[in-house]
Parts: sequence; structure tokens; C-alpha cells
Amino acid sequence: MRFFASADFMVQSRPSGLIGNRKHKQYYWTKGVRAHMESILITGSNGVLGTKLIQAAIGNFDVIATDLQAAPLNACLGSFTYASMDVTDEHQVEGIFQKFSPAIVIHAGAYTDVDGAEKNRDLCYSINVTGTQNVAKACKGKLVYISTDYVFDGTAGPYGEEDPIHTLGWYGETKYQGEQVVLNYTEKALICRTSTLYGFAPHITRYNFVGWLIRQLEQCKPVKVATDQYVNHTAADDLARVLLDLLAFGLDGVFHAAGEDRLSRFEFALRVADFFNFDRSLILPVTCAELGWTALRPLQGGLLMDKLHGYAHMMDTSRQLEVIKKTFPWSDPIA
Ligand SMILES: NC(=O)c1ccc[n+]([C@@H]2O[C@H](COP(=O)([O-])OP(=O)(O)OC[C@H]3O[C@@H](n4cnc5c(N)ncnc54)[C@H](OP(=O)(O)O)[C@@H]3O)[C@@H](O)[C@H]2O)c1
Repeated sequence: MRFFASADFMVQSRPSGLIGNRKHKQYYWTKGVRAHMESILITGSNGVLGTKLIQAAIGNFDVIATDLQAAPLNACLGSFTYASMDVTDEHQVEGIFQKFSPAIVIHAGAYTDVDGAEKNRDLCYSINVTGTQNVAKACKGKLVYISTDYVFDGTAGPYGEEDPIHTLGWYGETKYQGEQVVLNYTEKALICRTSTLYGFAPHITRYNFVGWLIRQLEQCKPVKVATDQYVNHTAADDLARVLLDLLAFGLDGVFHAAGEDRLSRFEFALRVADFFNFDRSLILPVTCAELGWTALRPLQGGLLMDKLHGYAHMMDTSRQLEVIKKTFPWSDPIA
């Protein structure tokens, strides 16, 4: 694989064939709906969802990946353009949007540490609110903003798109303010609220809940998992697929998209243990309060997806685990 480096941009040479198994999507985009490949710019492209979005978009779009780092961490995915971009830097964002004029922007970059957000409030605000404002102002095409189920307080979930917003913590608050900024600055925005993402790639070393759980269980270590928080665990691979489906329908507005099963973290952990044949007795039930997290979590959370089901379906837990089984770094030394 070759790189062409200039001061700001690195461009990889194109591979000869299609990457990924997305034949139906390729068919859709070439059967008259799109005459040519549109450009899609992804923020937070080195993150979990960003990586899966690149993977899903290659072959269907001209992909411009952007993140904080000087070079892509996931160059092995195939052919795409990469630009280093800090969303909090308004001039940098403007410059990159002018250079590439993306038809579609998926804004997945964010400050995502829910507990860290309580201690680093200014940093979290500058990335999730000011950064989103910079992206929304610069975006002249279709904007997709990735939001969270943490905009709800978890007193009466699962939640529909129109249910009242009430945030418990700073992360959820800044993501909600990001939603408002997007609606203020753009007319064609799609806001997608998702929940508890997991996904794997060789460069992703910061384990999410599922990665941590698998690593502990394969070493036969007991884990404490909350019985009182209900969410829809979501494989980022699957969300990336559905986001591109929603784009193909040309939809605007707020949509909920997350794993089809709403489960407590404890129930989900048992499913993971059973799926991978780990000892389920290693999973010890506790409450969120016992785990001593800094930020409050919505307990009766989760997302209703009736609106999504008019267009697409997410996978259930078993199918999602089948997908991530293929990408989990099984051979790496146990961390
Ligand atoms: N993870 C979840 O459970 C979850 C649940 C619901 C919604 N979401 C939303 O889904 C989206 C994707 O989440 P994810 O799990 O893929 O998160 P992630 O893995 O943490 O990826 C976020 C990416 O954004 C980058 N970033 C941070 N500050 C930035 C800045 N100033 N400018 C540009 N990029 C910046 C991060 O870089 P560094 O890693 O170097 O900081 C990281 O590569 C986010 O919008 C998040 O709020 C996530």
C-alpha cells in the first residue's frame, strides 16, 4: 500500500477490487440512484464506529477519514483519503471542508469517556458541543450526527425518539447540546442515537465492555457486572451498515438505532459467556452503585426502534456476536 503525503493530507493508492461484502449496496448505488460515488467525510475515523464506517463505506463512497492523529490508524482497511482534523479547531475544520466539499458527513468524533466527562467538563464541552458546531457550520452537504441514549435519564425506558430529554451526566448533556447545535445550523441533518457500542480492529487497544469481558473470562477471572442498567448493546459493525442504509433512503430527523435486544448488562454478559463457551459463573451480579462509577447512568434505559424498522433492522445479540467473533484479536497476548 502506498501513501502520498503532503503537509496536511495523506492519500492511499486505490486497490483493484471491491473491499468488503456489500454487493447489494453496491448494486443499489449504481442502479440509477447515484450515478457516481459521492464523497463521505467521517470524523473520529480512528475510533470504534469510525473504523467500521470506513470499512462499510469503501467501495460505495469516496471516503475521507479524519481524526486527531497525523496518520490513519486503520490504513489496512483499504483505499481512502485521510486528513488530520481536530473538530475544536474551527479554521482547520473550515479548510478541510473547503478542500474536499463532502456530499455527506458522518460526525462520529466525540469525547466518549462518560466518567472522564465529569472531571474534564471543559474539554468534553469543547469537543462535543463546540466541535459539533464547527462541523455543522462547515458542512454544506448531508450531516449525520451520532448521539446517545444517555440523553435520557433512565427512569422510564426504553425510549422513543420523541420522549422527553433529561440528562443525568455531563457526557449526555453535551451530546444533547450537540444535537441542538446540529438542528440550528443544518437543514438536512440525520441524528442517530445509539447505545453502548462495541467493536474490534487491530489498532483498537482501548477495550470496550465486551472486549474487557472476553479478556477477563478467557483468563477465568471473575467479573462484577451490573444487573440494574438496561441498554441495547450495539456492534459498531452493524450500526455502520444501518447508517449507510438510512443514508440511501435520504432520511432526515432523529432515529434510534442500536442492537435489537434490550438487556441488563448482567444478562448481556451471560449471553456473551454462553456464546463463547466461557464459565458463566464467573459473572457476579452487582448494582451500578456498587461499581462506584463517577457518573450516574440511566438505569431503565434503552431505545425503541419502531421508526427505524420502517427502513432497516439492527441485528440481535447472537448475530452481532457472530460478527465481532471474526474481528476480536484472539491471538493477541492477554492484556
Ligand atoms: N461508545 C459508546 O458506547 C457510544 C454509545 C452511544 C453513542 N456513542 C457515540 O458514537 C460515536 C462514536 O463512538 P465510539 O465508541 O466510536 O467512540 P471512540 O472510539 O472514542 O471514537 C471517537 C473518536 O473521536 C476522536 N476525537 C476525540 N476528540 C476529537 C477531536 N477534538 N477532533 C476530532 N476527533 C476527536 C477520538 O480520538 P482519541 O481516541 O484520540 O481521543 C476517537 O478516535 C460518538 O459520537 C459517541 O458519542 C458512543
